[in-house]
Amino acid sequence: MLDRTKNRYPIENFTACAADSSSLPGEYYFSDRVFETEQQNIFFKTWQFVCHVSRLEGAGSYYVHDLLDQSIVVLRDRSGQLRAFHNVCQHRAHRLLEGTGELTGRIVCPYHSWAYNLDGRLAVAQRTNRMDTFDASQICLQAVQVDQLAGFIFINLDPHAPDLASTYPGLDAEIRKYSPHPEKLKFAYTKDYPVEANWKVSVENYSECYHCPGCHPSLSTQALDMGSYSITLNSNFHSHLSGDCGDNQGYQLREEGPNSNYFAAWFVWPNVCIEVFPGGYMDVFYHRPIDPERSVQVVEWYCLDTVPTKEEQDVIEFVAEVRDEDVPLCESVQRGLRSKGFSQGRFIVDEALSDHSEHAVHDFQRLVLDSIGAPPESGGI
Ligand code: FES
Ligand SMILES: [Fe+2]
Repeated sequence: MLDRTKNRYPIENFTACAADSSSLPGEYYFSDRVFETEQQNIFFKTWQFVCHVSRLEGAGSYYVHDLLDQSIVVLRDRSGQLRAFHNVCQHRAHRLLEGTGELTGRIVCPYHSWAYNLDGRLAVAQRTNRMDTFDASQICLQAVQVDQLAGFIFINLDPHAPDLASTYPGLDAEIRKYSPHPEKLKFAYTKDYPVEANWKVSVENYSECYHCPGCHPSLSTQALDMGSYSITLNSNFHSHLSGDCGDNQGYQLREEGPNSNYFAAWFVWPNVCIEVFPGGYMDVFYHRPIDPERSVQVVEWYCLDTVPTKEEQDVIEFVAEVRDEDVPLCESVQRGLRSKGFSQGRFIVDEALSDHSEHAVHDFQRLVLDSIGAPPESGGI
């Protein structure tokens, strides 16, 4: 049932009931103050996708993840434990590592060669032996929370944030119903799609399939059975589920298990989507904020090996069409949100929570508001 409880949001016409509510005002998508508040209250407090576990398999492997003006290095130490640190030297703040690779020894700062063990402890600081007050054992890289869910590694800059399992209850098990052994897959392909739009426009575009029949003809007729598409709201994540197109499938299906004829996807608050396409093909699609009006859609595919088979490549290319169709939609919306002829829109909602229902867009906006508080005009942010 739709919830028609009293409005508790500090925005005119934004109500707890999606069917009655107006959407966020346009200003939320280009205001510097809103973006700054989102950085602090959303991106620096929530679990952020880093990479698939196959990219950090061996001891000494590392992966640098840049998140707005912050940089984090995730690595596997010599005992096999995953660790994450702010990517900054404790001497004079030089950046420590770049990209991804294997550390054969310690982490050595490029500036004055301070060397850190993989557990973050300072091991060597040259020319300090005559300094009575210098105690290397007191110096350590600043740790960041790191956790895993269904074969994916996430970090959280908030040291007090609850772990992934409690933040997204039931998500790991749900993913495994459609991709039983996600950690056994290999990272095989990635592509960035720059988008001239606020990151929320990109997430909202993902959060409904009202636009699919008109804007994604191949997805709607050769991949998903739109009549069976549904979106379920859960705690901090949304589950998208649809049957496949049977004989009309636009690519070759694999027969991997009892649910391999389903499309199942999850929006994971605030900016990650995990997808399993019919046949068990798996990808992650996430929305990286750059500035108030620019973002990047990052697509990563996980295959049976590090090089996609011909059959897997066909699926990657089939789905890539959807990105090419969505990017201009997002960019047009971004321009429209600045129009003096637009203030707030409405959500199309049906009780069946079907393909054409936008209740998940509303739920996403609710999560944004819950995180950032009052609108700019109220003086709240
Ligand atoms: S800044 Fe890293 S050793 Fe000096
Ligand atoms: Fe789309």
